[in-house]
Amino acid sequence: MNIQTLSRVAVAARMCSRALLLVLLTAFVSAADGDKLQVGQSMDIMSRYGYLGITMRVVARNESDTSWIFREPTYDVFANLDPLTVHPRRSAKSGSFNGEFHMEFCDNLRQLKQAYFRDFAFEGLDKPWQAFTTGWSSPETIARHMGINSSFVHGDYCYVLVRLSRFWDNVKLSRLPNNVNLLENMAEEIEKIFVGDVASVLMFTRRVGTHYINSFVTGNSLYQVFVYHKPIYLRIRERLKTRGIKNLSPVELSNFFSPWYAEHIGQIQVASGNKTVKHWATNRLRVHYYIFSYTSLMKIHGDTKLLSDLNGLLQNEALLQLDLRSLTPVFKDPVKREWFNEILDNYLNLLEENS
Ligand SMILES: *[C@@H]1O[C@H](CO)[C@@H](O)[C@H](O)[C@H]1NC(C)=O
Ligand SMILES: *[C@@H]1O[C@H](CO)[C@@H](O)[C@H](O)[C@H]1NC(C)=O
Ligand SMILES: *[C@@H]1O[C@H](CO)[C@@H](O)[C@H](O)[C@H]1NC(C)=O
Repeated sequence: MNIQTLSRVAVAARMCSRALLLVLLTAFVSAADGDKLQVGQSMDIMSRYGYLGITMRVVARNESDTSWIFREPTYDVFANLDPLTVHPRRSAKSGSFNGEFHMEFCDNLRQLKQAYFRDFAFEGLDKPWQAFTTGWSSPETIARHMGINSSFVHGDYCYVLVRLSRFWDNVKLSRLPNNVNLLENMAEEIEKIFVGDVASVLMFTRRVGTHYINSFVTGNSLYQVFVYHKPIYLRIRERLKTRGIKNLSPVELSNFFSPWYAEHIGQIQVASGNKTVKHWATNRLRVHYYIFSYTSLMKIHGDTKLLSDLNGLLQNEALLQLDLRSLTPVFKDPVKREWFNEILDNYLNLLEENS
């Protein structure tokens, strides 16, 4: 499927709620010139809003082509960004493992989606996760991405998301100066925007984009969702909050993340969808606990051997973090900048309200 088709699929799915908005947006053809995951590249977050998981590898999916991480159309905007590009180094927190292990308590499904996309920030959107999850319209889709049985998507359940992320590339722009250099063709694009003319801004966002990539991290992660009834969830959360995970006895911790306490234990998922890694996790992270047998990411907690195995197994295959900033800095003329901001704000608000 090419990008044009993808775009049409996304558009059709949103048709009912955003008819007016879409007529305007689809009137223009994107002029993007590549799909480069590079800081400073611009992209349009409006045309595939709700479906960004189709063009960014962020969540486990069942497909055989795993050769891409990012295939969102992008556009070259800024000139000479090399001096402004930094590669922050992360200290390996867990000995030989370059990444992090973390756990997040989610009172409901909305918080679970929010938690999953915690490291994605898009300027102008209060709920950036919706740019990925609005398209997950059926309980089955949500269940498949999160690795849980769909009967736990409805109802008054609470969730704990456990995730182990292995980082590879980490690239970031330092603050753009006011006089940041633009590529030559940008002057022409900006000329085509007229203050007071909404369509001219929308044409610009379709051709050039709404945002630029300010920073990103790629790598791969394992994640797993534990489902609880609320009273039990609240007890566990309270216990972890007051004691801290390090001060709990291993037995207590094992109990909390076992079928004694959890109503349902989801499958261990691989963000990139890599089947070799999934197979490894299903075999090596199996736990036999009293009468139960299940797989658990918690088995890795404190196990340096498993961590160092995973440091090699989790390759550079998925997008783990993304920070997008509005394209405001390309406008030197304050009146035009203001006009661009106003239109972008309005449209982003509309998208969020209709999600
Ligand atoms: C993944 O897709 C393949 C082929 O499209 C199918 O045979 C298989 O059952 C799917 N697996 C899951 C877990 O949906
Ligand atoms: C989901 O859970 C229900 C009830 O616990 C069960 O009947 C069903 O087989 C499960 N489905 C899958 C795909 O595991
Ligand atoms: C999946 O991960 C394994 C282990 O790191 C790696 O050897 C393999 O190349 C990956 N497979 C694909 C299709 O990317």
